[in-house]
Amino acid sequence: MRPSILVFDSGVGGLSIVTELMKQNPSLNIDYVFDRDYFPYGSKSESELVPRVIQILRAAIGKRPPEAIVIACNTISTIALTQLRQEFKLPIIGVVPAIKPASTISLNKSFVVLGTELTINSKYVNTLIDNYAANCNVQLFPSQRLVIAAEEKIMGKASYLNGVAKELSAIAHTISINDCDVVVLACTHYPLILEEISTILPAHIKIIDSGEAVANRVQEILSNISEFTNNTSFPGALSINVVDSLRRHDIEPQRIANFLSCQSSLSYLD
Ligand code: SIN
Repeated sequence: MRPSILVFDSGVGGLSIVTELMKQNPSLNIDYVFDRDYFPYGSKSESELVPRVIQILRAAIGKRPPEAIVIACNTISTIALTQLRQEFKLPIIGVVPAIKPASTISLNKSFVVLGTELTINSKYVNTLIDNYAANCNVQLFPSQRLVIAAEEKIMGKASYLNGVAKELSAIAHTISINDCDVVVLACTHYPLILEEISTILPAHIKIIDSGEAVANRVQEILSNISEFTNNTSFPGALSINVVDSLRRHDIEPQRIANFLSCQSSLSYLD
């Protein structure tokens, strides 16, 4: 039997997590759900986002009950994981910004965390810094522009490159980038433009994210359910479910399928 996993994000950023999940378990069936109507989440308020995400997850679970839910969105993971775990009786895996690993691998004990405004200002992130990186100089930088650039890249808009260059130049002017030797990507959208980010940042900087850690955790959970096998001869499939009341029809499932090198289909979730 092939396990089915529900992956949720505000936009296409969670596809960076899907890539890691498929790398570790190519036989997964993944229902990817994203909220086109409310994107971007990073600048909205907690009180409007949390009830909305609960409602969307309920609808998605009703369509196909999964073995586990991955909240592939740092913004929602940092503000709502506890509430979501109370609401749903399924394993829920969130994305934790890689602050602990950054504090270990940073030789200069100086690193930068890039995330959305809600993530960067969350109590969750500030507690992680107090607990695991109190000995480090941690510079926080909110970037909505990089979120938009990642969306544009997946939608096939060449203008995204301009956005990445402008934002990284703004980052370099705002923070002392040369002192730091690690950059934490605390938003799942950013790994989609990793190549572009690493070409612009100084070569000595290591860029890290949480994708592999999330995929490890999902595997751990699935390995406790004995009827599931990691059988590569039965490749899994990706179903993309969009919350889009305007039915914009500008998402090409084939483009996403090519990006991930897998089969994919698109439907709307109301
Ligand atoms: C956004 O919608 O602003 C990005 C969400 C995230 O943190 O992954």
